[in-house]
Amino acid sequence: MAEIDESTTPEDITDAVVASFDGCRDPRLREIATALVRHLHAFALEVELTGEEWLAGIRFLTEAGRITDDVRQEFILLSDTLGFSMLVDAIAHERRQGGTESTVLGPFWVSGSPERGYGESIVEEPSGEPAWVHGRVLDPNGNPIPGAMLDVWQNGDDMLYQVQKANGNPGNLRGVFTTRDDGAFAFVAVRPTDYTIPDDGPVGRMLAATGRHPWRPAHLHTIVSAPGFETLVTHVFDSESTYLDSDAVFGVKPSLVRRFVPRAADDQARPAGVEGAWYSLETDFVLVPSASR
Ligand code: BEZ
Ligand code: FE
Repeated sequence: MAEIDESTTPEDITDAVVASFDGCRDPRLREIATALVRHLHAFALEVELTGEEWLAGIRFLTEAGRITDDVRQEFILLSDTLGFSMLVDAIAHERRQGGTESTVLGPFWVSGSPERGYGESIVEEPSGEPAWVHGRVLDPNGNPIPGAMLDVWQNGDDMLYQVQKANGNPGNLRGVFTTRDDGAFAFVAVRPTDYTIPDDGPVGRMLAATGRHPWRPAHLHTIVSAPGFETLVTHVFDSESTYLDSDAVFGVKPSLVRRFVPRAADDQARPAGVEGAWYSLETDFVLVPSASR
């Protein structure tokens, strides 16, 4: 019987898996699969992962799968809370020089928000302190972009987005606006509130176990699009939020922070339909031309 004089090393295992992709005909898939295996194996070696820890990881992913459905996406939430979503977005937009910075989409966008006119309100039921949000959509040279679309959504003073609620007007705190010839948009919103990401599942337990909180700083969401320009998915953050430095999903970029300016009830600039004290928030959005390929 031949003597076996060489034992199999961790490196042999990694090499064997990498070699198993040799026949992959899609070069990009092969590159991704190879790098994934190399990094995954290196991670286990670095921390000397035990069998119990491996099983805990498998259970975590199994639970994430169980809780995921059409409206709850625990894997994206995991990606968000590990900063992975922001990293992928940064890679995609590395060359978006001169445009407004992007950030995470999040789980609360829904298609089909009501189309609303310049200056109209997205507030269909009592939802908090009124805020007049206005600005222009511009190209990197400062030229207005007429006909740009702004799809906006936000939470109210109960910390919830409308899609999280079983009752109420489905269009509340959501709307689609089109910029005027001068690139301007304006709407009545409410001042958004800090809120927690869904933390009743495995991601919430991961945050608690690692000593992290589930809070996001108050923000308005928007998707800004126009023909010939890259679509921008971004937020405007409230400069007075408590969580600007510790966003659970790492979505804050300093260039996206704005001030909600307090305005008195008798301020002459008070928008129609707004009663009592209010805020104004001015913000422009700069779109970069689509990549010509
Ligand atoms: C949000 O801003 O709506 C959000 C983003 C990422 C995870 C959860 C919520
Ligand atoms: Fe949000």
